Amino acid sequence: SQMDIGVIGMAVMGSNLALNMADHGFKVAAYNRTAEITKTVIEKNTHENMRGFYNLPEFLGSLQRPRKVMLMIKAGKPVDLLIEELLPQLNNGDIIIDGGNSFFQDTIRRFNYLKEKGINYFGVGISGGEKGARFGPSIMPGGSKEIYPHIQSILEAISAHVDNEPCCTYIGENGAGHYVKMVHNGIEYADMQLISETYLLLRHVGGYDNKKIAEIFNDWNQGELHSYLIGITADIFAEDDTAGGQIIDKIVDSAGQKGTGRWTSIEALKQGIDISMITAACNTRVLSNLRAERKLAQQQIDTPVYKKELDNDFIEAVRKSLYAAKIIAYAQGFSLYRSAGKEYNWQLDYGKIAAIFRAGCIIQAEFLSKITKAYSQNKNLENLMFDKFFMENINNNQSDLRKIICTAVNTGLPVPAFSNALQYIDAHRSPQIGANLIQAQRDYFGAHTFERVDKGGVFHHEWSEHYKK
Ligand code: 6PG
Repeated sequence: SQMDIGVIGMAVMGSNLALNMADHGFKVAAYNRTAEITKTVIEKNTHENMRGFYNLPEFLGSLQRPRKVMLMIKAGKPVDLLIEELLPQLNNGDIIIDGGNSFFQDTIRRFNYLKEKGINYFGVGISGGEKGARFGPSIMPGGSKEIYPHIQSILEAISAHVDNEPCCTYIGENGAGHYVKMVHNGIEYADMQLISETYLLLRHVGGYDNKKIAEIFNDWNQGELHSYLIGITADIFAEDDTAGGQIIDKIVDSAGQKGTGRWTSIEALKQGIDISMITAACNTRVLSNLRAERKLAQQQIDTPVYKKELDNDFIEAVRKSLYAAKIIAYAQGFSLYRSAGKEYNWQLDYGKIAAIFRAGCIIQAEFLSKITKAYSQNKNLENLMFDKFFMENINNNQSDLRKIICTAVNTGLPVPAFSNALQYIDAHRSPQIGANLIQAQRDYFGAHTFERVDKGGVFHHEWSEHYKK
């Protein structure tokens, strides 16, 4: 009984993925450093296609050649340690697949290191949380294109499907899969932040209670905003607490993060790509943790006095603003893909990336098929904003976006993601962005030169001191 694939790491993601493989007829060897954990998983889920192993040599010995070993362990140092442990026990041509949220630069390094040793390495982004892993996640494999067919059928089988198409596609060489997953998470942060700002508006400007907000999100989920995140948000607001009221009001207003969103922001800064909404989402989580400072500020900074005037169409205006801002979040995320493709020499297919996000992953949404369509109509699209469908939406919704942001600002509600969406639109749209003055200042103090609007070339001006400083 030769096993088709081995999975190392039987925590919730690893065990669910292994069971998913077993469901699809693959013979899966399961291993965890702590044998007890493997034992519990196997006992809880007796599956004819899954077998637990309690030492590494036996686990590896059970696998068909070339061996396929999937790592579902904590990203970072543990992956390097495990690779070192596996190396002497593997043969030329064996395949290691890292299915964790590894940093893409680590994946590039490991890919190159293992290539020298004759081992094939894949960094595979997997999105969809626990349920996704068990019943069909979105899968982003990166590694050698020639070797990919060895793992393709397993990954496609276990992935989510839309119209019989797997939500899994080969992304590109070395770290491309983990890169695409990283930016997926960045977009996830922006999407979540937008929804959270929407909640503040509905709650504190609209004055709606949780049950009403649940209904609003549920309504929206029947239309163009239909998505996993809007759906779970409706559920969340509907959830009662055993101690009375709803659970949402019992949760401390302070959010955690594991780092993928922050990696995306740092990466975008390095590449000179503006993903301000993702950065705003990271920053807001960070600020939310400053509980002592927030308390002081609440005591010391005056609350703005503003008489709210609620239009009848307030809810609809918020919905339209959310849609417009969501377009910008994706436009920013995909502009980072575009730049990364060039930077790292990956042939990223943006339309396909959007297509595999249509189901399985956290950011799955109706909306993604519009992105796929945009790139199928123009695969060199500079920015998603310029797609006809998205541009129409921006134009139809921007006045609501402006109105909603003004209301939030006047009320004193923080809406950093909404605001950055509008800033991004206006920075593109406004005939003047003020950079002529920046250039003048740079030239004044550092002779950094400037270009002129009326003739070609590069100029420096001898600036006069008209005023006393
Ligand atoms: C996914 C998610 C997942 C991520 C969590 C938490 O696509 O399934 O992105 O990979 O770990 O969403 O991320 P934070 O802890 O950083 O919020």
